[in-house]
Amino acid sequence: MGIRTLNLTKTLGDPPTPILKNISLEIQDGDYVSVTGRSGSGKSTLLYLLSSLDHTLEGKVEIDGQDVNQMSAEALSLFRNKKAGFVFQFHYLVAELTAMENVLLPARKSGGISKRREIATTLFEQFGLKDKIHRLPRHLSGGEQQRVAIARALVMEPRYLFADEPTGSLDSENSEIVLNLLEKANEKQKTTLILVTHDPGFSRRARRQIHLVDGQFITP
Ligand SMILES: Nc1ncnc2c1ncn2[C@@H]1O[C@H](COP(=O)(O)OP(=O)(O)OP(=O)(O)O)[C@@H](O)[C@H]1O
Ligand SMILES: [Mg+2]
Repeated sequence: MGIRTLNLTKTLGDPPTPILKNISLEIQDGDYVSVTGRSGSGKSTLLYLLSSLDHTLEGKVEIDGQDVNQMSAEALSLFRNKKAGFVFQFHYLVAELTAMENVLLPARKSGGISKRREIATTLFEQFGLKDKIHRLPRHLSGGEQQRVAIARALVMEPRYLFADEPTGSLDSENSEIVLNLLEKANEKQKTTLILVTHDPGFSRRARRQIHLVDGQFITP
C-alpha cells in the first residue's frame, strides 16, 4: 500500500523554522526513491517522518493506509520491528555487542533466529566482513561499522528500507557493493527503498528522484 504524505510540514528550532513545507508525496509499494538536497535541507528529517520514527508533524503521514498519528504503540512497534529496516546516517551500533550480535538485534524478539543468522552470515560475506563477525564495533573501521549497520537493516528482509546516506563513509568499491544489495532487495523482494544520498550518480539510479530545496521538493 505504500507511504503517503498530505501537506506534511515540519517546524524545528527556536525561533521555529519550517524545515519541510506542505509536502504531499506518494511512495508506492516496491518503489525506489532517492532523496537529495544540500546539507541541512531536511533529508534526514523527511526520512524520520516517512518511517514513523518522528510523528510530531503537521499534516499527515500514512503508512499502508494508516495515519501514523492514529496508530497504536503496538502497531508502530510492529511496523518498526517487522516491516521496516533503518540505516541511520550515524550508525548507532551497540558498543558492547559484536558485529553479529548487532545484526541479529532486530531478530531477537521475532523468533526464527537460525534463519536470520544464515542471512546475516551471507551478508557479512557479501560485505567482505566474514572474518570480523565477532568483533566489537570499536575494533572496526567506520566503513566496516556502516556495513554492519546495513546488514542489520537487511536481516529481517523488511518491506520498507529507509537508508540515510548508507554509503557516506565507504569507498567507491564498497559503496557499489552496498547499493547493489539494497537494489537487489528492491528488485527481488520488492522492498520499498528510500535512499538519501549525496551522490548524484547513485540518485539517478532510483526510479524516482526527489530533490529538496527550501522545504519543498522538485523533481529533477
Ligand atoms: N532537533 C532539532 N532542532 C532544531 N533544528 C534542527 C533539529 N534537527 C535538525 N534541525 C535543523 O533542521 C534542518 C534539517 O536537518 P536535517 O538533518 O534533516 O538535514 P539533512 O538534509 O539531512 O542534512 P545533511 O545532508 O547534513 O545530513 C537543519 O537546518 C538542522 O539544523
Ligand atoms: Mg542528514
